Amino acid sequence: DLAHYSHYMQKEIFEQGSAVANTLEERITNNCMLEIETFGEEAVEIFNQVEAVRILACGTSYYAGMVARIWLESMGIPCEAEIASEFRYRNPVVPDNALVVAISQSGETADTLAALNQASKLGYKYSLAICNSPFSQMTRVTDLVLHTRAGPEISVASTKAFTTQLVSLLLLMIALAKRRGMTVDEEAEIVSELRALPSRIEALLQMDKDIAELSDYFADKEHTLFLGRGTHYPIALEGALKLKEISYIHADAYPAGELKHGPLALIDAKTPTIAVAPNNHLLAKLKANIQEVRARGGKLFVFSDSGTPIKSDELIEVIEVVKSGPFTSPIIHTIALQLLAYHVAVTKGNDVDNPRNLAKSVTVE
Ligand code: M6R
Repeated sequence: DLAHYSHYMQKEIFEQGSAVANTLEERITNNCMLEIETFGEEAVEIFNQVEAVRILACGTSYYAGMVARIWLESMGIPCEAEIASEFRYRNPVVPDNALVVAISQSGETADTLAALNQASKLGYKYSLAICNSPFSQMTRVTDLVLHTRAGPEISVASTKAFTTQLVSLLLLMIALAKRRGMTVDEEAEIVSELRALPSRIEALLQMDKDIAELSDYFADKEHTLFLGRGTHYPIALEGALKLKEISYIHADAYPAGELKHGPLALIDAKTPTIAVAPNNHLLAKLKANIQEVRARGGKLFVFSDSGTPIKSDELIEVIEVVKSGPFTSPIIHTIALQLLAYHVAVTKGNDVDNPRNLAKSVTVE
């Protein structure tokens, strides 16, 4: 039932505030994460043993894994994130007491299921599925299951599944980081960021009209470049995937530091760049990259946090998004890019919910 929305994708983008609130319900208090309620009783012993994490997933779910890898590492937990279709054909070295985490909206993705199987053959000791479909195959084969509770996602382009995966991965990060010395104050800080997230998402969604106005500029473009750094590099990848998937505009995403190593050659007046520019310790670096693009005559759309000192000019259009904390900022920036992709696809008259050549659930290799 679409109610007053034009497409499922639009509806699902707008459901993200409540989807995130559902993901968190009865899993956090005012200042802490409730481990047993979130992961089940069996998780306590498993998490006590875990020394390393390997995340496996495909597509958008893999990008959630890439963000989580940076989060877990920052808490002293060795972590790798890998595309399931690559992992399943390799024989990597398995760390002691490693937890394999599969991330999937559908829980039926053939490569992710096969990668889980490969992980158990290789000797990964523990497994967790972060999954949106409570009765899917994936939830039956792992030791632990964390249901993302986004509700049914109909549109082929994943939106609310991704943002609730990120929230779920933050809960996992807290559980593992507490065993590595995260203080109660640090935990409370992250939990309060999570509690503020649904209302920040609602505030971001108020920017819908402003973002829609950008779509005319993109509708006749053939190529785009997305840039980001740190946790926002996977968000640039996700923004690019969303745009190519539904608007059929070629979109590449690069870590901004890679510009000089090749992609800068693509920049011309017909190739816009979208920069994901949160106000964090990497902003100065990213601003230098923005100038590199500008100096080559490339038009830039810079998604910054409100209040960040980046100025618009004839080549740079700054779009200020709602400011949030360091852990939830990737989620806020993602939603802005979802809206951009959505409006470009609508402007082009594409079948937004059923893009050509794609299926919602990829159950064959
Ligand atoms: O159901 P899954 O999360 O395992 O699906 C993985 C990918 O197929 C999926 O995220 C795909 O990349 C989406 N169409 C992206 O919008």
